[in-house]
Amino acid sequence: MSLLGRDLAVDLGGARTRIYVRGKGIVLDEPSAVTIDARTGKIIGYGADATGDETCWPVSGGLPADGDLARRMVRHFLSKVQRRPLARPRLVMALPDGATPIERAALRDVAYEAEARQIVLIPHSLAAALGAGLPVGDYVGGMVIDVGRDSARIAVLSGGEAVATTAVPSGGRAVNRAIARLVEHEHGHTLDEHEAETAKRHAGGNSSQEDVTVRTRNPETGHEHAVRLPTERIREAAAPAIESIVWAAMETVERCPAELTADLGERGTVLVGGGALLAGLAPRLRESLGMPVRQAERPLECVALGLGACANDLGLLARLRGGRTRLR
Ligand SMILES: Nc1ncnc2c1ncn2[C@@H]1O[C@H](COP(=O)(O)OP(=O)(O)OP(=O)(O)O)[C@@H](O)[C@H]1O
Ligand SMILES: [Mg+2]
Repeated sequence: MSLLGRDLAVDLGGARTRIYVRGKGIVLDEPSAVTIDARTGKIIGYGADATGDETCWPVSGGLPADGDLARRMVRHFLSKVQRRPLARPRLVMALPDGATPIERAALRDVAYEAEARQIVLIPHSLAAALGAGLPVGDYVGGMVIDVGRDSARIAVLSGGEAVATTAVPSGGRAVNRAIARLVEHEHGHTLDEHEAETAKRHAGGNSSQEDVTVRTRNPETGHEHAVRLPTERIREAAAPAIESIVWAAMETVERCPAELTADLGERGTVLVGGGALLAGLAPRLRESLGMPVRQAERPLECVALGLGACANDLGLLARLRGGRTRLR
């Protein structure tokens, strides 16, 4: 038994990787980043140690975008959380809704490269809903919207299945790019991702009434400048991404059977992922969908917690589905 290794859940996110250990909870939460030495081509930093210009982000939309780097990164993270280096864990991971067989195989490759003895794939939307505490096995409909780094994923669930799903490329990074474009348009300066992220979080934070100062660079002189951005302008820059999520959510609801739509109106929608904290998103959804919209208690951790619940009890999903579907 001791050689088999524990059951682990891995939420492979575009921004962060989170690892949940059965019976323990989330034990690792690091950027999904890898730094390569430009001279030697060797990897010199993973996760929290990945810094500098040569940093890559090998995951997008819950799938490896650079298979080799993603596999090595996951292997590295697992080695950090495993007490016994030779143990071969069983891995629970999220399968993006609507993934193709090739994408499913890419996730299996990640697991096997990490020396896992088995991989259990749980639909992403179900993991998100479980982590947010939705009664997933219920035949009453529920909706979950996960706003991550590269995309926003919308799912209506009923009886342990996703009955309608949509994904739009309007995640946190799209908002950062819009803030950078705003600065370029109004000041002619460039704004790096880190500064855009700070500005975005400020706009949704407690001191959001005040302007935020960001560091920009004049591309002609190369000099750095401090530029003040009114919160209002940041919110305007985020608006197109928010509208695209709202539109996709409305369209997803329209595709649902009428009896589920009525349930949704009562139960409402839960927001998960880092983008759930985006200023203005919840009120706009509430207004357009005409239903209650709430933020999950731990939005950033929902998917890892939902996958973790499955790692704690591998029969969970099958039972939620009333035993009709075997756990894949
Ligand atoms: N306080 C905040 N306000 C607004 N956005 C935030 C906040 N905190 C995090 N984010 C955004 O959330 C995104 C990361 O969310 P999350 O950790 O859920 O993504 P991920 O799971 O790694 O990515 P994905 O699910 O797309 O693979 C980032 O784009 C970040 O900018
Ligand atoms: Mg995520």
